[in-house]
Formats: sequence, structure tokens, C-alpha cells
Amino acid sequence: MLSDPKRYTITAALIYANGPIHIGHLAGCYLPADIYARYLRSKERDVIFISGTDEHGVPITIKAKKEGITPQQVVDKYYTQIKDSFNEFGISFDIYSRTSNKKHHEVASDYFTTLYNKGVFKEETTEQYFDAKANQFLADRYIVGTCPNCGNPNAYGDQCERCGTSLSPDELINPHSTLSGEQPIKKSTTNWNLPLDELQPKIEEYISEHPEWKTNVYGQCKSWLNQGLHPRAMTRDLDWGIKVPLPNAEGKVLYVWFDAPIGYITFTQELLGNNWEKYWKDKESKLVHFIGKDNIVFHCIIFPSMLMEHGDYILPDNVPANEFMNLEGDKISTSRNWAIWLHEYLQDFPGKQDVLRYVLTANAPENKDSDFTWKDFQARNNNELADNVGNFINRVITLIHKYYNGEIPSHGSWEDVDEELISTIINFPVKISESLETYRFREALSLVMDLSRAGNKYLGDAEPWKLIKTNPERVKTILYLASQLVANLAVVMEPFLPFTSDKIFKILNLPSLKWNKAGDVTLLAAGHVINQPEILFEKIEDKIIETQIQKLLNSKKENELANQTIEPQKEDVNFNDFEKIDIRIATIIAAEAVPKTKKLLKLTLDTGLDERTVVSGIAEYYNPEKIIGKQVCLLANLAPREIKGIMSQGMILMAEDKDGSLAFVSPEKIIGSGGVVK
Ligand code: 2FM
Ligand code: ZN
Repeated sequence: MLSDPKRYTITAALIYANGPIHIGHLAGCYLPADIYARYLRSKERDVIFISGTDEHGVPITIKAKKEGITPQQVVDKYYTQIKDSFNEFGISFDIYSRTSNKKHHEVASDYFTTLYNKGVFKEETTEQYFDAKANQFLADRYIVGTCPNCGNPNAYGDQCERCGTSLSPDELINPHSTLSGEQPIKKSTTNWNLPLDELQPKIEEYISEHPEWKTNVYGQCKSWLNQGLHPRAMTRDLDWGIKVPLPNAEGKVLYVWFDAPIGYITFTQELLGNNWEKYWKDKESKLVHFIGKDNIVFHCIIFPSMLMEHGDYILPDNVPANEFMNLEGDKISTSRNWAIWLHEYLQDFPGKQDVLRYVLTANAPENKDSDFTWKDFQARNNNELADNVGNFINRVITLIHKYYNGEIPSHGSWEDVDEELISTIINFPVKISESLETYRFREALSLVMDLSRAGNKYLGDAEPWKLIKTNPERVKTILYLASQLVANLAVVMEPFLPFTSDKIFKILNLPSLKWNKAGDVTLLAAGHVINQPEILFEKIEDKIIETQIQKLLNSKKENELANQTIEPQKEDVNFNDFEKIDIRIATIIAAEAVPKTKKLLKLTLDTGLDERTVVSGIAEYYNPEKIIGKQVCLLANLAPREIKGIMSQGMILMAEDKDGSLAFVSPEKIIGSGGVVK
């Protein structure tokens, strides 16, 4: 699309309502989408910005099972949490809705029926995994077994989360259903496929019309096409989702990737009522999907196929997907709690939305994965936001108050340095626009910072605080022009740092100005009175950052403990063998450390039968004086053996925790020494 479109339909991925938002989601999709939407609004273009939660599919039912609540309870809980945190973070959706809405069920059902009536779908009967006990077909995620690659006993039917290998349920060793624990069987079922293989030529033509797409997006599409597209079922045997609107489709729902993108259409209808169609059907509308890289194929191949086959709709003009953002050198992971959660950030850093917006955009994974570190967050806040932007604006406002009681001075004739700054003020918004229109948000933000840097340099070179004594007239010109730059900065930073932009306009005592005012050096008239300065960016102290780093280290540690695998059960023994073991309750009557060892204690035990000595490796966990009188379980008939020169007559039983620490196995009430354990 070369000339300006009449209107923009901007969407941001419908995230599954099964967990909170983290910085990876923000950097991958929501921040660039918000920057783009805010920029277009500032340009006074006709734009709608649509998003919401994806509330169907296996990710939701899995979460419900894990939390022991219903799928509806899961989506209700996370919809509200996600919506609230986006709102507080300043993501300016025009609507944030949800796919479990009745309206969406109707729209998605109608869409399916239209394609069905057009004969788009191909009916296919296949063998699928089925849990006979639970009487339910099993999505791959519902089947677990041992990973053939790393031996993880809890690998899923589609992937092993320990070693990252993609799997199919057939590859798992000892596969079983997570619903009943039974081994799944294969059972035949009929579903309706979108024949992507037949649609491939049309898709190829569509993609080849968009060589301007980001290389990561274009490349992924090409690689799918090169491998050849396969038919994909648009219905699934599941009990959570939108019922397939056909007779004989009992127990079947629409594939979540069929219904979710239609959500963008439903939500537009919710937002605009009868006025919605032109945003989806008029060729002069521009449709842009913001997503993360794991959603590329769905938005560039599958959804466009659905739109083409329907016939009435425009196709996505661009899908500027980002790569992933890592955290402190490691992949962000919800299940490992390796993430910075938005709702926690908002709590820990109140009023600092723009700092995170800045850091995530300045370091956005636009062309390759990037890495968030807390040290970098601190450095960017302190050295870039505080020392560059905050410092410049604060100096200008403070000096205008100091010299002119807050009144904008009038300017004299321009010198070369002024002319140079004026042309910077005029040129930068054009450059920033060019970057934004081509989805280069990092570059656009760095231009905003350059503009502020130009202001700092201008002030630093001109030194009005010295000049005030010798040439006060010249100072008026300098501060007049510097104040115009402050107003210009407030305009061009708005898409990126909306909270700061708002504050600056308040300090300047101006209403928020639109993009067409950028490049104007008469935004503040001489004599206009501005408000008092306020600190825009406080420096962030080391201890704040250390607390956040510690929080991550704690979650790493917890995760390591939780992930230690349970020893597999040993081979069966028969009862006769078990009976050969003589375990009985003994009471510790003396204890002392074994000299020259760290781990060993020499215990004297009253076994009911006798008093005997046992050497035990528990010194790291128990102080000998404190265990006198303790009742323990003794393996009494273990053949005596010499340990460090002491004859040990038996072994006391200890329970080992996941971190390797040991605890006595003791009777729950006092038992006479010699009591038999059986
Ligand atoms: O990856 C996800 O979280 C998906 N729920 C995104 C869906 S985007 C769109 F198609 F709705
Ligand atoms: Zn594995």
C-alpha cells in the first residue's frame, strides 16, 4: 500500500487467558502495537486498536486441571488480571474483549458455517488418541510419557519441556493419559479440514506480494511454503470451546486457531456496532497484526486462507512480528517462573511505566532475540532517561522560573547555533515518522533520544547560566528555543512514553498536542506561563535492582528443587523377602562425632534387645547433644560392618529431601524400644 490508507485496523495477539502478562509479551507484541496505534492517533488517522483474550483451547483446560478449577473460572480470573495490568501500563486498546463472549461464539460459528456452505472444508476420518476410561479424545498435551531423548518421565505428547525436543505421542515411552493414567488407545473420528495444500498457490501469491515484510516473518512463511502446506483440521474433539455448528458434531468444537483470529472481527463489531465492516472489507483499510514469532504461521498463512476463502475480507497488509526477549541470558518461561510479571512490576515500581516501556522498546527483539537484564534497566533509566531527557527538560524549566518567573521569554535574532537547532527540530519528526511507519520502533525511539541530546548539547554549549551575567538578552533567545524543543519532545515521545509526555504538557501548561505540531518552534508563545518543574525520572538505586535480581535467583532455586526427579520405583520384591528385614524402633541414648570425619556420628542405641553402636552419616544435619532420647527406625539385622575403625551394628533409616537434606523417620508417638516396624 503506497499512499496513505483511509483507515487502520490494528490488532494485537489474543493471548491465552491462562496466566499473567510478562515482559516478553510486552516487548514481542503489545508495546510495538501500542506505539503504532498512538502514533497514528497523533497523526489524526482513522485507527482502531483491537485485542482481548483467547479463552478456548487446550492451554485453558490444562490450566484448569492444574489449578483444580473450571476452565470458565480460569479465564475469568486471568481476563481481569490481564486487562487491568495492560490498562495500568498504558496500552491503549480501543477494546479489550474475550473470545468466551456469546457474541464471539455467534460470529465464529457463522464464519464456520459460511465456509462450510461454500464447500471449503474437506471431511476427514482419522485415528486419534482416546482415553477409554475418561471417554475422551486426547490432545497431545494430555498424553505424558518418558522422553526418548533425555529420559524425562514427564514429557508431553507434543514436546519435552526438559530437553526441548518436539515429539509426537507415538514417540513417548510408556505413554499414558493425564486424565485417567491409562494407556491411550487409537479411535477413529471425523473432522473438517482447511485444505491448505490446495490453497498453497493462492497463499504463495499473497506472500510474494509482500517482500517488504520483516525478514524474520517473510523467511518463516517461505520456509513453510517450501516444505509444502498440509491440510489442517479446523474442528477438534474437545469439550471446551465453540460447538461445531453442524449436525453429527457432538463433542466437537472449533479449533482454537480457527476461532481466535475471528475474535479480531468480533471485537471490532462489539466496538463499532453497524459501523464495523469498512475496517475489514474496504480495500482502502489497512489491516496490521502485531504478534510474537510463535504466531507467525497462523497470521500469515492460516488466517489469510480463512479470509480468502470467505471472500469478503481484506488481507493483512503487514504482520510485524518480533522475535523473543530473554531474561538475564535465559529463555523466559512461565512454568519455571523465569519472568518479570507485569502486575508485579507495576506494584514494585509504581509510576514507572515509562521506564519499562523505554527499556523494552530500546532493546526490542525486532530482528533477533534480545536480552533483558536488571542492570541494563537501571543503566538505561539512570544514564539515558534521567541524565539525558530528564536533565534537559528540568534545566530548561528551572531556568525559565529562575530568570523569568515561569514566563516564556521572547527571542531575539537567530544565531547559527539556533538555526541549526531549529532545523533539527523540523527534521526529526519526519525521520521519526519514517521509522514508525516502517515498524522500526527501536530506531524511532533512538531518534527521540537524539533530539533530546541535541537539546542538552545546545544548552551545554550556550551555558545560559554563565551568560545571564554578561548577555541576558541572548539568554532569552536560548531559553525560548530550548522550551520549544521541550514541547516538541513531548509530542514525539508520546507514542513511546505517554505518561512522561502528559507530565511535560502539564508542566508546560499546554494541552496535549498532536503530531502535526511537531517541527513547530512557536508552540509556546512569549509571555505564556508554565508550571513548576517536577522530577520526570528518578535515579534507581542499586538496592532496588539487587532485590529484583534476588527475586529471580529465588525462583531459579525453587525451580531447581521442584525439578529434581523422584527416583523411579525399584523392582518388585516378594513378601518373604520383605519379611527378612528386621526394622525396629530404637532410642538414641548417646551420640558423639566420629573424630576426623565431617559426616559421621557414633550413636549408642537402646534397641529393646540390646545396647548397640551404629555409625550414621547424619552429622551435617544433627548436633549429637540434641538427639539424645530421639526415637528412630533401625534396620537391626543389617550385617555388622566396620566404619572408621568402629563396628557398626545396623543402620538407622533417614528420609532424604529433594535438596539432599536428611530427617529421622520417627514413630508418631512414643513406642517402647524394640517395637517392630512392619
Ligand atoms: O499464542 C497465543 O497466546 C494465542 N492465544 C494467540 C492467538 S492470536 C489470535 F489469533 F487470536
Ligand atoms: Zn527430553
